[in-house]
Amino acid sequence: MTSPSLFSPLKVGPYQLSHRVVMAPLTRMRAAHEDNAPHSLNLEYYAQRATKGGLIIAEASPVTQTGRGNPRTPGIYSREQIAGWREITHAVHAKGGIIFLQLWHVGRVSHSSFQPGGALPVAPSAVPISGNFSAMTADGKQVPYETPRALETSEIAGIVDAFRDGARNAREAGFDGVEIHGANGYLLEQFLQSRINQRTDAYGGSIENRARLLLEVTDAVVGVWGADRVAVRLSPYGVANDTGEADPMPLYSHVVRMLSQRGLAYLHFIEPRSSGAGRADVNHQNVPSAMELFRPLWPGVLITAGGFTGEAAEDAVASGKADAIAFGRHFISNPDLPLRLQRKSPLTPYNRATFYGGAEVGYTDYPFEQSA
Ligand SMILES: Cc1cc2nc3c(=O)[nH]c(=O)nc-3n(C[C@H](O)[C@H](O)[C@H](O)COP(=O)(O)O)c2cc1C
Repeated sequence: MTSPSLFSPLKVGPYQLSHRVVMAPLTRMRAAHEDNAPHSLNLEYYAQRATKGGLIIAEASPVTQTGRGNPRTPGIYSREQIAGWREITHAVHAKGGIIFLQLWHVGRVSHSSFQPGGALPVAPSAVPISGNFSAMTADGKQVPYETPRALETSEIAGIVDAFRDGARNAREAGFDGVEIHGANGYLLEQFLQSRINQRTDAYGGSIENRARLLLEVTDAVVGVWGADRVAVRLSPYGVANDTGEADPMPLYSHVVRMLSQRGLAYLHFIEPRSSGAGRADVNHQNVPSAMELFRPLWPGVLITAGGFTGEAAEDAVASGKADAIAFGRHFISNPDLPLRLQRKSPLTPYNRATFYGGAEVGYTDYPFEQSA
């Protein structure tokens, strides 16, 4: 048997991908100002990047108002947001594409200006983000992080319900599946990590307890979609948003093993070398490779992202370390990235200054390669 290539087909859950160049979830902060609903500008952006048989993972979308931490991130908790997303899923399907939605709750990576009644953001424990990070207010100002409020045990079922509702709404909006955001220091990762989660109830302490919320959320979402249309994203060895587990292997081995029993559509990693790519063009040195560490524990489809060139992606797929590669920054600046990688064409460089917020510039105005 010949080894797979970036352009050989791949089955993901019930879907047949025609290539393995996946669009990574990318927060762009360009939803409609008044109700955080996706609108025509976002539709154009996603339609530009849709390809026949190509998988798009749409940007992290809060499942509830308390899960918001940035202005103009599209939500998946209101009628207007569902309607806006429905237009986008139609447009992607019209081009033969497959589109999952990333379900998000930011937890402590929020600010009281987003919270109902100006309350403090919620988190596993009252442990604030420290270090060189600043919170964003609802009107886009950078301010120091507040100390979040620890969720009561009795409130945790409400978090699970919010993800379940988000999953239902995503179905109504016509998505093909959902990816649970368990990465980058947001709420579900906050529960996983011992420095941030200092709880003494069934959701804190042991690795089993810290993994409980992620697994309960996964099971709730699987209850809506069926396992083969549900995915989870993790960032072991990540440092985004003041995370970092002293010894990640036992924790993430447990999480990956538990998830592997569930028959999910895929597992998605952020390679540790690119942790924090949303904020800076970091390339962390002397860090392990998530795909190499965890592939042996994961029998299903494995997608990974982080600093891949076309050549490195080909190598990862051909060697079987990953089944598909998600591209973030290059997909921002190359709407026709799969075609360019296939032709080995030069890539347009991205402009970090236009990653977040704004309108067409740096969003829908990156050029397509002239047809040969
Ligand atoms: C502007 C920007 C926004 C991002 N937003 C998200 C997001 O919403 N959800 C997520 O899981 N990762 C997010 N990431 C991380 C990317 O999905 C990806 O893992 C990272 O950029 C590394 O891949 P790359 O080297 O191909 O860019 C973001 C990264 C960037 C640059």
